[in-house]
Amino acid sequence: MNKKVLFVFGTRPEAIKMAPLVKAFQAVSEFETKVCVTAQHREMLDQVLEFFGIIPDFDLDIMEPSQTLNSITAKILLEMKSVLDVFKPDLVFVHGDTTTTMAASIAAFYSGAKVGHIEAGLRTFNKHLPFPEETNRRITSVVADYHFAPTQTSKENLIRERIAEDTILITGNTVIDALLESVAKVQQITHPEIERLKELINPEQQVILITGHRRENHGAGFINICEALKEIALRNPEMLLVYPVHLNPNVQEPVNRILGGISNIKLIHPLSYPAFIWLMNRSKIIITDSGGVQEEAPSLGKPVLVMRDSTERPEAVLAGTVILVGTDKDKIIKETQDLIDNPSKMERMSQLHNPYGDGKACERIVEFIKTT
Ligand code: UD1
Ligand code: UDP
Repeated sequence: MNKKVLFVFGTRPEAIKMAPLVKAFQAVSEFETKVCVTAQHREMLDQVLEFFGIIPDFDLDIMEPSQTLNSITAKILLEMKSVLDVFKPDLVFVHGDTTTTMAASIAAFYSGAKVGHIEAGLRTFNKHLPFPEETNRRITSVVADYHFAPTQTSKENLIRERIAEDTILITGNTVIDALLESVAKVQQITHPEIERLKELINPEQQVILITGHRRENHGAGFINICEALKEIALRNPEMLLVYPVHLNPNVQEPVNRILGGISNIKLIHPLSYPAFIWLMNRSKIIITDSGGVQEEAPSLGKPVLVMRDSTERPEAVLAGTVILVGTDKDKIIKETQDLIDNPSKMERMSQLHNPYGDGKACERIVEFIKTT
């Protein structure tokens, strides 16, 4: 009998990183593969599903404006039960460290299904940083049966937590599989959002790309970030800062209030994945607090300044493709200006090796599950 495999995800980055894996499982006839989206994100999830052509079999549609961690967790735990009762999967795949990941893995465990955790073993060793992701991923590691670690460091973190070594596989990050597939696709299509970006950005202008959303940066952190970006824009009028603003109201409010109306800052709607890849490629520098963006950017040869105080992705810092700048206004300004004023430093950073994978993570995961 075919092994029943259920993929559960809910936010934009999980969807991007799960999409190539869903396709890889769908292509193997010995698996019966279904997809359940929690829709913890709605619009930003749907953008990804549409680009990758994934039609969910189950859609919990839980998102509400300014949702709380409690409401996300409670709704998923309750609503996953009927999905699990109907499909009765042998194996449930979850990804990373969102509240969808944590709640879906617990629901799968309660149902008796095995749990496969993609992007397992990332740690800052501070349960509040990032919040709540560090704790979400630790809980998921306790519940999971198979741990797909992107790097040697993430595998070692799991072994330190006494997770059996034969349940851990180093795969590389599926984000690189998604990126390589999508870069090729972006070159073959005409995309209305990309055309709009070409109109927005003067061909002569150098672009600084910004993204940010972390919960622990809400409030004071975001005010510092925005004040720093404003100062960078004013000091460098020849550069264009392009910021696709996350839809979280805690992000929208300070960003629009502090950065609206500055002529060389463009605040735009979150971009679909192909348009975002185009924009990353078009940028000189990326300033972000995103996990996924700092994994992707080195593959496109882009230096990244990360607005976080600690990181679960030390590999990029060690490789030199990423610099941690925290949310201190002066540090963000200083490090950005240093890159702008030192093209040779920018050049050095952009030529370094991406430590996060080779685009074959999905292949490795499929082979592992075939033999278990
Ligand atoms: C979530 C994840 C975070 C991940 C991030 C990726 C948790 C606790 N947080 O954070 O780990 O890095 O996604 O972006 O799991 N909203 C919309 N439309 C959308 C998406 C969001 O309107 O398509 C708004 C809603 O008001 C929603 C709010 O954003 O309530 C917050 O969404 P939520 O998923 O709770 O938090 P994120 O900050 O997006
Ligand atoms: N991304 C996107 N459109 C945007 C901004 C980001 O498609 O406007 C993609 C980006 O390429 C990366 C992912 O979204 O793959 C990162 O998502 P996010 O920063 O929201 O979450 P994190 O990675 O921090 O969990």
